[in-house]
Amino acid sequence: MSAAPGTRHAPLAVAVLGAGRIGRKHAETLAHRVESCRVPWIVEPLEDVGRACAADFGAKWTSDPAEAIADPAVDAVLIATPTNTHADLIELAASYGKPILCEKPIDLTMERTLAAISAAEKAGVPLQIGFQRRYDPSYVRARKMIEDGAVGKVELVTATSRDPQPAPLAYLAVSGGIFRDCSIHDFDLVRYLTGHEVVEVFAYGAALVDPAIGEIGDADTVVASLRFDNGALGVVTSSRRAVYGYDVSTEVFGSGGKVVVGEAPETLVRRYGKDGVTHDNIYWFLQRFEASYVVEVEDFVACLREGRAPRVTGEDGRAALAIADAATQSFKEGRPIAVAKRPLPAGAGR
Ligand SMILES: NC(=O)c1ccc[n+]([C@@H]2O[C@H](COP(=O)([O-])OP(=O)(O)OC[C@H]3O[C@@H](n4cnc5c(N)ncnc54)[C@H](O)[C@@H]3O)[C@@H](O)[C@H]2O)c1
Repeated sequence: MSAAPGTRHAPLAVAVLGAGRIGRKHAETLAHRVESCRVPWIVEPLEDVGRACAADFGAKWTSDPAEAIADPAVDAVLIATPTNTHADLIELAASYGKPILCEKPIDLTMERTLAAISAAEKAGVPLQIGFQRRYDPSYVRARKMIEDGAVGKVELVTATSRDPQPAPLAYLAVSGGIFRDCSIHDFDLVRYLTGHEVVEVFAYGAALVDPAIGEIGDADTVVASLRFDNGALGVVTSSRRAVYGYDVSTEVFGSGGKVVVGEAPETLVRRYGKDGVTHDNIYWFLQRFEASYVVEVEDFVACLREGRAPRVTGEDGRAALAIADAATQSFKEGRPIAVAKRPLPAGAGR
């Protein structure tokens, strides 16, 4: 790193790669919400988008990731580019010894995911993955309750994620499909909440919202049935369209009861009328997980300052992708698929 990070005189300099929906949010967090941090570079191939974002957060703009990553003034890198570019950028950042916070998923393929994790490990740089729900106060509280025995032996897990509307087709085409792009948050959550690994998946998918999504080989409405290593069962359902807004809820049920993380109202206002009772609903993921995105970035910065490992690791990214891969294969082949285990390091087990 260029200077003692975290001191008053040396704000941590984090280059942000990608100035789209989530990159702009992270740039804003780094520039304005995290103490003693700055954004020296915005890397973005679309010049007008990149320059506008850079101007907003006091950064320089470049379209060349290497220019920003190689800059000795850059302490760390936040990757918020389309998923099919993540592994290359992780490897590039690792080759310059720069710590990395990378958005989910790590890559579209397991092969490139493993290579990217290995590049970070070999270079000895921290690699944190953007599963921001692990920083949501409700999910943190739910996990603590489950750890403390609130549900007894875990037997059944249900997790639902629905976006208000599909992302643009250009985004979906390089997203890896709904299981890798959307359901992956729930695949990560069920591991995080239960402490158990998913061993098998049977998934269905359909294009019920937009036939064009079916034409690119993807689905917009999916169900994945899960079997866990302790014998528990689970269901993850995802949809690209919920007319009432963003809808995320999770339930962990067991021998001693259940813990539920429900949907979040936008305000505490309710309207009571002759047709019933209504309340405002949060419309967008950036609202629902607003606080989590900030704490996630704060924790990444804290890891670097304290010299500790990230809480959400490359292995978490690999494990969630393995479930998403199994679900995608199951949806395409119509049969249950075993979830790939973490490969043993070369030479192990001999
Ligand atoms: N954790 C979350 O809740 C969450 C939410 C949304 C998106 N994501 C992830 O973040 C990533 C980006 O998603 P998004 O919704 O912001 O997409 P987006 O399409 O809105 O933005 C991506 C931006 O990256 C730019 N870009 C493309 N190639 C680049 C490169 N090589 N270098 C630098 N910039 C490049 C694009 O021009 C675009 O502006 C995806 O991997 C997605 O899965 C995570």
